[in-house]
Amino acid sequence: MKSLCLSVLCLLMAPVAVAQTPIRSDAIAPGALWPDDKGVHINAHGGGILQHDGVYYWFGEHKIAGDAGNRAHVGVHVYSSRNLTDWKDEGVALKVVDDPMSDIVRGSVIERPKVIYNAKTRKFVMWFHLELKGLGYKAARSAVAVADTVTGPYRYTGSFRPNAGVWPVNLPDRDKDPARTVVARDFETGQMARDMTLFVDDDGAAYHLYASEENHTLHISRLTDDYLRPAGDYARMLPMGDDEAPAIFKRKGRYYLITSGLTGWAPNPAKSYVADHIFGPWTALGNPVRGTPEQQAVTFGGQSTFVLPYGDGHIFMGDIWRPKDAIDGRYLWLPIEWENDKPVIRWYDTWNLKTLETPQ
Ligand code: GAL
Repeated sequence: MKSLCLSVLCLLMAPVAVAQTPIRSDAIAPGALWPDDKGVHINAHGGGILQHDGVYYWFGEHKIAGDAGNRAHVGVHVYSSRNLTDWKDEGVALKVVDDPMSDIVRGSVIERPKVIYNAKTRKFVMWFHLELKGLGYKAARSAVAVADTVTGPYRYTGSFRPNAGVWPVNLPDRDKDPARTVVARDFETGQMARDMTLFVDDDGAAYHLYASEENHTLHISRLTDDYLRPAGDYARMLPMGDDEAPAIFKRKGRYYLITSGLTGWAPNPAKSYVADHIFGPWTALGNPVRGTPEQQAVTFGGQSTFVLPYGDGHIFMGDIWRPKDAIDGRYLWLPIEWENDKPVIRWYDTWNLKTLETPQ
């Protein structure tokens, strides 16, 4: 009978037994449908992950079908997981409302939500990019919501353009002329803030990175101790570099940044940078994508959203947007590999999280 088990018969019988047990796997399949615990494709686009008390929480934009899905009809969705592959639907962490006077009325734009935990206040703090209903992408505002428990509900606290009345720490005096620069034009009213992420450094200081100055220049802005507002010091990261979709991480004391160019939902070549200090200066490391010219030109069809430390390494997270049917957007998760001290990303049809558990 034992020898029979190696036979075709055994293979035919095997699926019956497998189907009885829950499917657990360490494998990630970039770009594939990714069912949650209810068998529904995960709905957390432009997202980020918070690890808290041994559990991963994935927050992202809840999209609906069609191009209507490019506006917020539901809110920010949250999922939980202990292994990064099996995700439990934890519901809507921040809900849109029906009050037409609210910033987060159904039909506004809520993008790239990120959540961090403040150990001092014991609050979970969510920041996102907000566009006011009916104004396209003109508002370019940052919005903040707070919760006592990680999955919410999050209480919306308001929106603003960050850093009104404050100059970036690294802006030359000649650029403080409103006739010459966008940063000076917006000095009084606050800086434009679109694509964004949050980052908490080892010392507990948190930073908000956002695409500003008509998307031409990323800013990095330190947050107050409670993580609810800009603290008052910020830097221009890559002046006139045309970067968005920032994803930042730290390795061996250095800061790394992956961004995209500015082509809306359509993919373009990714870019990578390194810095010894979080306020820069940043040094360009080039396109991190390794592969065919086509893969390099479109970043495997995706755009960065977050980098998650895992094991001894890092996971690159991106979105493969489907703007005509937004709910069908896919997730591009790939291991970050290293070429000397440059982060690089290669395509794998599937890959195993275990590959990041040994030193890179
Ligand atoms: C992309 C951006 C997305 C979304 C989109 C709208 O460039 O990264 O988050 O804002 O534009 O066209």
